Amino acid sequence: MAVLDTSIVILAAGKGTRMRSSLAKVLHRAGGRPLLEHVLRACQPLKPAQILVVVGHQAEDVGAIATQFGAQTILQQPQRGTGHAMQVARRAIRKSAKLALIVPGDAPLLRAETLAALVATHRRGEAAATILTAELGNPSGYGRIVRDSQGRVQAIVEDTSASPEQLSIHEVNSSIYCFTLEKLWSSLGALRPDNLHRELYLTDSIATLRERNERVLAQLAEDPGEVVGCNTRAHLADADRVLRARKAAELMESGVTIYLPETVVIDPQVSIGPDSVIEPGVELLGNTRVGSRSTIGCGSVLIDMRVDDGAKIFPQCHLVRSRVGRDSEIGPFARLRSGTDIRAGAHVGTFVEMKKTILHEGAKAPHLAYLGDATIGAATNVGAGTITCNYDGFSKYETKIGKRVFIGSDTALVAPVRVGDGAYIAAGSVVTDNVPADALAVARGRQVNKPGWARARRRELAAAGGNQVKSRSPRRKPTRSSKSKSRR
Ligand code: UD1
Ligand code: CA
Repeated sequence: MAVLDTSIVILAAGKGTRMRSSLAKVLHRAGGRPLLEHVLRACQPLKPAQILVVVGHQAEDVGAIATQFGAQTILQQPQRGTGHAMQVARRAIRKSAKLALIVPGDAPLLRAETLAALVATHRRGEAAATILTAELGNPSGYGRIVRDSQGRVQAIVEDTSASPEQLSIHEVNSSIYCFTLEKLWSSLGALRPDNLHRELYLTDSIATLRERNERVLAQLAEDPGEVVGCNTRAHLADADRVLRARKAAELMESGVTIYLPETVVIDPQVSIGPDSVIEPGVELLGNTRVGSRSTIGCGSVLIDMRVDDGAKIFPQCHLVRSRVGRDSEIGPFARLRSGTDIRAGAHVGTFVEMKKTILHEGAKAPHLAYLGDATIGAATNVGAGTITCNYDGFSKYETKIGKRVFIGSDTALVAPVRVGDGAYIAAGSVVTDNVPADALAVARGRQVNKPGWARARRRELAAAGGNQVKSRSPRRKPTRSSKSKSRR
């Protein structure tokens, strides 16, 4: 695929007015990456002499992405059109380069193979310029490819300058071209800003070359969807859908089951092992890695997560920068915040939130708990409603719980505090002191039963006047208006 004599120029200086955004167009994201990054990734495998990105709007942020991919940048300020962008680029083009492959920064669906094929066609045809074109059902907004009576490309006419007859042409300019550099440079001098936007259009250089009897070829893209530009938010959503579908298709190909793949959002870097199952509406983002035979339940969102083999994430979990060990179970409705480590065979249940906590092998927190800055030993059982009170309004403190501990329901562990191996904590305790191993800690008010108290109370009330008791009948149920009155 190498094109060592070719400089790739990515045009990315424009603002993207039609996005109606304060963010430069090529910085908008589709398929989990900025548009420009997709284009850079499509260019890299060609191993060109150089990749040059023309920057302008938000040049610093756009340039940072370019640099990250080993591309050079050149500043076009102000932006006076795609032709002007190439005039500016000229200074930075390698002297050794013979061809320029020009690519817009807003075409994220482009594939390397398509670019390489265009360069090959250009070489084979010994052309001055070769345009990648596409047949679109709805060509509006695009430059049209005007051909002469013998079918040769004559000019590209922009949508805003086209005659009604030209507007009916469905073959459009993708804005991806291969030029022989010396021909390109000579044609750029002839550009004039005589159009609606007072810009220098690169597209006008095609007519100039043809007037000089140079060879101009057009190569029709096999997949017109691949060359569409993202000019609007609607285009952005379309591109995102295609990129997400590509990723899902790739994973299914590699042995991952994805139900309703059109509903899942999986970032490009995400890896998933074979025989894992992804249920509808799942989002797997960032550097998430899922092992084999795992299930990610419906509606769960995972960001920078590591999920080991055989883990089961039940529906509606929100898991961030944490690890879920082999054969463990999480959710439904669980939240794991940064730095949590659920070891093999452990279980985190419904409405449990954890932060920076280690739940060792086989330990369980099955329902309704907050565990933060804690270490919980193997085979320990954390009862429903357990809370680690890890914050005193100023600092965070740790809770350390040993192995095979039984923590009764509704326990508050006031950190810093330690519970030794094998200890029991009575339900409803507020634990402020360390609990030794194998001890029972009871930290709550002692229960007092007063025999017959309730019966006596009922009699007393009845004697005081039956009315008062009867008044609790349904007739007196507070109405909406009586409620609001009583609140006043
Ligand atoms: C352009 C083509 C049109 C084609 C369409 C395909 C021109 C005049 N028109 O129109 O024929 O059908 O792409 O998507 O070329 N840019 C700069 N500097 C500038 C102006 C633009 O770097 O001064 C960059 C933009 O950032 C963008 C790319 O060039 O990445 C294309 O510009 P855009 O405004 O999107 O052109 P279109 O109107 O889509
Ligand atoms: Ca465009």
